[in-house]
Amino acid sequence: MTERAWWHDGVVYQIYVRSFADSNGDGVGDLKGVIEHLDHLAWLGVDGVWLSPIHPSPNRDWGYDVADYRGVHPDLGDLQTLDRLVTEAGARDIRILLDLVPNHTSDRHPWFVEARSSREAARRDWYVWADPRPDGSPPNNWLSVFGGPAWEPEPITGQRYLHNFLPEQPDLNWWNREVQDAFDDIVGFWFERGIAGFRIDVANGLVKDADLRDNPPPTGDDPPEVRRRGQRFVYNMNRPEVHEVYRRWRALADASGRVLVGETWLFDPEILATYYGADLDELHLCFNFSFMFSDLEAEALRAIVESTEAALPDGAQPAWTGSNHDVGRFASRWCAGDPAMIRCALMTLLTLRGTPFLYYGDEIGMTEVPIRDDEVRDEPGLIGEAQVVRDPGRAPMQWAADPGAGFTRGDVRPWLPIGDPALANVADQRSDPASHLHLCRDLIAFRRQTPELRSGGYVSLPSPDGTWMWRRGEGVVVAVNLSGAAATVHTGAGTIAIGTDRSRDGERVEGELSLGPWEGAVMRVALA
Ligand code: GLC
Repeated sequence: MTERAWWHDGVVYQIYVRSFADSNGDGVGDLKGVIEHLDHLAWLGVDGVWLSPIHPSPNRDWGYDVADYRGVHPDLGDLQTLDRLVTEAGARDIRILLDLVPNHTSDRHPWFVEARSSREAARRDWYVWADPRPDGSPPNNWLSVFGGPAWEPEPITGQRYLHNFLPEQPDLNWWNREVQDAFDDIVGFWFERGIAGFRIDVANGLVKDADLRDNPPPTGDDPPEVRRRGQRFVYNMNRPEVHEVYRRWRALADASGRVLVGETWLFDPEILATYYGADLDELHLCFNFSFMFSDLEAEALRAIVESTEAALPDGAQPAWTGSNHDVGRFASRWCAGDPAMIRCALMTLLTLRGTPFLYYGDEIGMTEVPIRDDEVRDEPGLIGEAQVVRDPGRAPMQWAADPGAGFTRGDVRPWLPIGDPALANVADQRSDPASHLHLCRDLIAFRRQTPELRSGGYVSLPSPDGTWMWRRGEGVVVAVNLSGAAATVHTGAGTIAIGTDRSRDGERVEGELSLGPWEGAVMRVALA
């Protein structure tokens, strides 16, 4: 693809709809709430919004257990409101992406209700069934991501069905042509409604080994979580045939200028690269979990960016993310709430080569909210192998320092506890030009008006330990000091366009830039 699409140059913003803005006072965020805050997003300067699943769902996994791929959950609104959101966002030059969950359905989805009813059911083969072993044990050793065996006994037929996640999330059988056709139709349905693309859930997981072979044990080189789990997920996901699905969807998407973003939970950049397709004929963007799970540490992040840049096929665009609804918020995970660290992280995310994804609240440096045991909503997190509850990163957006934080009315109990909005909220930060919010907005605006930041290449530059410096195109240099000690970097002569310390904006630099602890700057430099 030679023509540049909006997502090449743009910034995408993830909204966890239940937690963004409650328009009707029931304590749950909704689509109308998103519409009411489109002006904030337009002011911030984002180009696309990805909505976490909005479909009817029993909410065992908060929408990631879909019961109807063509509808809207009544808690969140209805189809007309979604259409209105697409139109009103479009009027502000913002595109709406949905979350597509093709790996599994809810066990309440009519397809599964039918499939489980008998071995002869018309849609029986839409899911993955197997007989137990003669001793009654599961058909193979596959484990669920949420813990325990990935096979659930089905009393009606005596077989077991596969669930790589909760038992209430049966895996679809992607070898079945009708399943493939059903999803092509769903994708087409939303494209026709003006949806700009999809974030694809569990993108590397859809296809399973046709022979259901046992997963092999870990090797010494595997990351700790794989060793703890005791098996490598070789046969229950990550099968090569999944690439065929993306080649088909890519053709559908490119025919009408839509974008496909993969939740590619993979840590080897060479494997990540394969999801773009050697001929750039698969996913447009792939999330980079190595980056998300790194520490905010110069050498580690630089190595991940360099190895990603080296592995991606020519013309492929990286995606950079600090927070999401699963891994939590970067302001906590990377920065422990420290304002200077948060500013360095925002600067980094918004100036690397690639598409930045912000998670609602990142723009104000929102941190995670402690959740008491009796407030937990994320049951899958509770039973998961790591027992990490994801609710702290899903707490309501903090719009103002009011009771209800501007998320809901002060007398309403929100679905998840609201953090202390005095720590960070949109209204206060909007009136403070030195705030995280203004830094974020100004970085986005600078990106938009600076061709080097939109499309220039990434080149690492030498810099002292604890600092990270790179050039974008010819005329922009970014330097961040990700350490607690002052440092001097050799940037060449230029001018600070935006500093994390805003009092340095416009400062002339003669060649050496002194940075305080946890300080960064984006500079225009003289062309080499
Ligand atoms: C993805 C989602 C996560 C969900 C899981 C199962 O990883 O991001 O929230 O629990 O898929 O659908």
